[in-house]
Amino acid sequence: MSVKILVFAGSLRKQSYNKQLAKVLANCAEKAGAEVTYVDLADFPMPIFNEDDEAENGIHENALKLKQMMNDSDGFLITSPEYNGSYSGLLKNTIDWASRQADGESVLQSFKNKYAAIFATSPGAFGGLRGLGQLRLLLSGIGTTVLADQVAIPKAAEAFDEQGLLVSEKRLQTLQRITTELVKTCNRMKLD
Ligand code: FNR
Repeated sequence: MSVKILVFAGSLRKQSYNKQLAKVLANCAEKAGAEVTYVDLADFPMPIFNEDDEAENGIHENALKLKQMMNDSDGFLITSPEYNGSYSGLLKNTIDWASRQADGESVLQSFKNKYAAIFATSPGAFGGLRGLGQLRLLLSGIGTTVLADQVAIPKAAEAFDEQGLLVSEKRLQTLQRITTELVKTCNRMKLD
């Protein structure tokens, strides 16, 4: 049974560099032999999490759809913009919704015993690096093991070509190596 990897970016922007990076990573994961699902979070809009709203209406239908995809996955490839030195509010809100326990689920089922590799890109000089430490902490705290290797790609406007592909072959090789490591790790854990 092949490893299933869910790929998403913490941006809604149509021309998002992080969505471009997520698509590059999805391609790397396919090359590593995984069954890959790329999700554009813009296709799964959900309100800012509010416990009153949840008590009245239950977990938002798009959060439930996303959770199902997460539950069906062995690992995640996540890439996020950096807003004011942290990962995006969209990503936090999505994770907050997905962390809620749906009927028939165990606590934090969408995140526990999952593996992730995390990435960022931004037009700035540090590529969103500051947000990655915080994203690592968040995911680790809810049961997802985050690979040690991570990549933040600076100067995004020059890093991608018009097709949304990475200009640097060396950088692509690094992404392929990390993605392959994620797939291999998920595979090992499945066999356990
Ligand atoms: C930014 N941006 C930004 N960039 C960065 O490297 N470090 C930062 O702290 C911030 N802070 C920040 C705050 C806010 C509110 C906005 C709107 C933007 C720039 C940001 O990286 C840039 O807009 C990216 O292009 C956003 O990612 P996507 O949408 O291209 O994936």
